[in-house]
Amino acid sequence: MSELASISYHGKSYEFPVVEGTENELAIDIKNLRAATGMITLDPGYKNTGSCESAITFLDGEKGILRYRGYAIEELAEKADFLEVAYLLIFGELPSKEELQQFHEDIKAESHVDEEMKKIIDGFPKSAHPMGVIASLTSALIAFNPSSVNVSSEKAMYYAIVRLLAKFPVLVAWTYRKRAGLPLDYGDDSLGYVENIHKMMFKKPNREYRKNDIEIEALDKLLILHADHEQNCSTSTVRIVGSSHAGLFASISAGISALWGPLHGGANQAVLEMLEAIAADDGDTKKYMAKAKDKDDPFRLMGFGHRVYKNFDPRARIIKKSADSVLSALGKEDPILAIAKGLEKEALEDPYFVDRKLYPNVDFYSGIIYRALGIPVEMFTVMFALGRLPGWIAQYREMRLKGEPIGRPRQVYIGENLRPFRALKDR
Ligand code: ACO
Repeated sequence: MSELASISYHGKSYEFPVVEGTENELAIDIKNLRAATGMITLDPGYKNTGSCESAITFLDGEKGILRYRGYAIEELAEKADFLEVAYLLIFGELPSKEELQQFHEDIKAESHVDEEMKKIIDGFPKSAHPMGVIASLTSALIAFNPSSVNVSSEKAMYYAIVRLLAKFPVLVAWTYRKRAGLPLDYGDDSLGYVENIHKMMFKKPNREYRKNDIEIEALDKLLILHADHEQNCSTSTVRIVGSSHAGLFASISAGISALWGPLHGGANQAVLEMLEAIAADDGDTKKYMAKAKDKDDPFRLMGFGHRVYKNFDPRARIIKKSADSVLSALGKEDPILAIAKGLEKEALEDPYFVDRKLYPNVDFYSGIIYRALGIPVEMFTVMFALGRLPGWIAQYREMRLKGEPIGRPRQVYIGENLRPFRALKDR
């Protein structure tokens, strides 16, 4: 028998069940609130609202814990590869060797994109932001894969998933290559999943591709760290779009658009642009700290703060360490890394940031690694989308298999009451 929480209003008391998650998180189940009381809850930004029960990702923002399907992010980043993590997130368990091989074979069998898609890419100006391009191309994929729209059976769902995991990296590579003026190529089925992505992006038409293990490992790790983060803005978008039974590709295209914003995934681009601006301003971090604290200035310290983490984002900790080791392994120096570290140190000692529990988030250091890998700043958020793809897929699959109802929040109307229409001549 679950415990009950009560709400009193106008002398009447109403009781609602308390739900407890496997990590002892408590929630008041208000499914019947409106029916019982005639009232709704009001929670702009959903700061206190659980939209679903989910078995995919656990995060504890107070303690700085992140786990995929019960596995610590630190352990996965060190010991697993991205495709294994994708399988884990989507299907719930780490794959056996055979399962992983089969999964990869199924993906490879679909890792081509209809040639007509190149015409769509050609229609974009070279200056188009890659996030707009990749969101459009993901939507356009539906037209060429109509059988992936209806995913009402497990089998149809599996093939839609495999197709997306296969074709999305091709589109990412093409988005980058079009911008860089490089021919649109395919990958190589003899390579690992991430190695293939690396080759598709960076192979020069006039030069043999040479594998760079440091770069591939760094990319793999970044993709793992971005792979899921429970009900964030883009994931909630994927779930809510999918709740209308829109197909997987359409739902994920909507998630990509949600990710684009600078308060979400777009922050990785914004961080690097901010660090570059500070570098160009004689490295004057104090000036930017003051701007971030000034309530009359809209500037925020990009890459700082998080809706859920009120402690170190564990991903930021791993990425910071990785930035150091990747740069030194590649023999590269980046003055921006020193600026980032200086800014972090100042923020962590400043009462404004300390009192508000603002810590570096995943985006604070990721751009420095992307840059060391030769990825241009406008592509950063696309790389985030590539990493987040398995998470979005897992969340979509979970929601559809559970048969969740269509997402449709309510509102408190604060507009005009009924009033008579006034003819144009009288206004
Ligand atoms: N710089 C300066 N002040 C900040 C920052 C920041 N980066 N982040 C939050 N604050 C301040 C707010 O002004 C507010 O101050 P107040 O209480 O005096 O009004 C307080 O801290 C709380 O901030 P909210 O905006 O209410 O927190 P919320 O949970 O709504 O926002 C968010 C979280 C959007 C991430 C915010 O911290 C932010 O804008 N950060 C910068 C952008 C960023 O890095 N986004 C990436 C997030 S990670 C991801 O999506 C992958």
